[in-house]
Amino acid sequence: MIKKGIFGTIADKDVDFFILKNKSAIEAKVISYGAALVGLEVPDKNGSFADIILGYDDLNSYINDTCYHGSTVGRVANRIANAKFTLDGIEYKLAANNGPNHLHGGKTGFNKVIWNAQPFEEKECCGVVFKYRSPDGEQGYPGNLDVTVTYTLTDDNEIKIDYNAVTDKKTVVNLTNHSYFNLAGHNSGDIYSHKIQINSESITESDAFLIPTGKIIPVKDTPYDFTELKPMGRDIDKLDMGYDINYILNKALPMELSFAAKVYDPQSGRVMEILTSEPAIQFYTGNFLNGSTGKDDASYKKHNAFCLETQHYPDSPNHPEFPSVVLIPGEVYRHLTVHKFSVL
Ligand code: GLA
Repeated sequence: MIKKGIFGTIADKDVDFFILKNKSAIEAKVISYGAALVGLEVPDKNGSFADIILGYDDLNSYINDTCYHGSTVGRVANRIANAKFTLDGIEYKLAANNGPNHLHGGKTGFNKVIWNAQPFEEKECCGVVFKYRSPDGEQGYPGNLDVTVTYTLTDDNEIKIDYNAVTDKKTVVNLTNHSYFNLAGHNSGDIYSHKIQINSESITESDAFLIPTGKIIPVKDTPYDFTELKPMGRDIDKLDMGYDINYILNKALPMELSFAAKVYDPQSGRVMEILTSEPAIQFYTGNFLNGSTGKDDASYKKHNAFCLETQHYPDSPNHPEFPSVVLIPGEVYRHLTVHKFSVL
């Protein structure tokens, strides 16, 4: 079931919201600004519903947001060192919006534009197809890029995010979703007791600016080891800020949809499993949340949520040894991520 309405307006242009509802009464709310997931009501072990996605009640807050709440992120998610890369001998200079580096698509990334939205309803699912044409040269990237992001809520209690993109000029693409989760509810304080397992044995080492050094390091015997379910808070104090790191996922075949991560909140009993076709996942514990005001006047502080951003490795355009993010005309960029909800 889908309900549609107007979330707000920007320069006379309506930003729509869509509320998707499945047969277990799970509700997902998406908006056409940033093709963002702005709410997700799921039951706990006693059947009580809570909104487990951080975000805002109004459009203006999404326009001014600097945390990427719920947004689709692109053209290239994560960081690109010194905001530049070279393709076929041509150097492309990108918008620098994170010190000297490029972060999450630049100053006006895919999270800051209005997408065309088309809802659909089928027998066991419903969803919204978002489309956006990123023009040649936008934020410095070559080629017109036609992007489609489809959110589907299924009767199996899954949210599927399906991405594809085509270009008319060789370019780079790495899309993700930047939802902040707190399985106890968006306004429930820290996530230290949430347990997480990540299907990964190694991370890309990064420097002080969170740019990969190129070194791949095993997680064994480090605070980064989540090969077995472990509370997010157990080793977090051993790190400067918290977790903000790219995990390389175990895959039998590249691009196969496979298990990436599982999070369990013992208090509410809520479980979220993530499957993805992407080779990596950024685990981020909201280290830069600074008390800003969110939905229902919530105050979102450091470590009040976590993000699991399925993606290619950070700074891939400058690391030929990493899985490639290059897209050529005639090929289709594809990425599927599934979030499955249950209780224990
Ligand atoms: C990503 C990055 C973080 C931070 C957030 C946005 O998750 O890895 O370092 O930039 O986005 O605040």
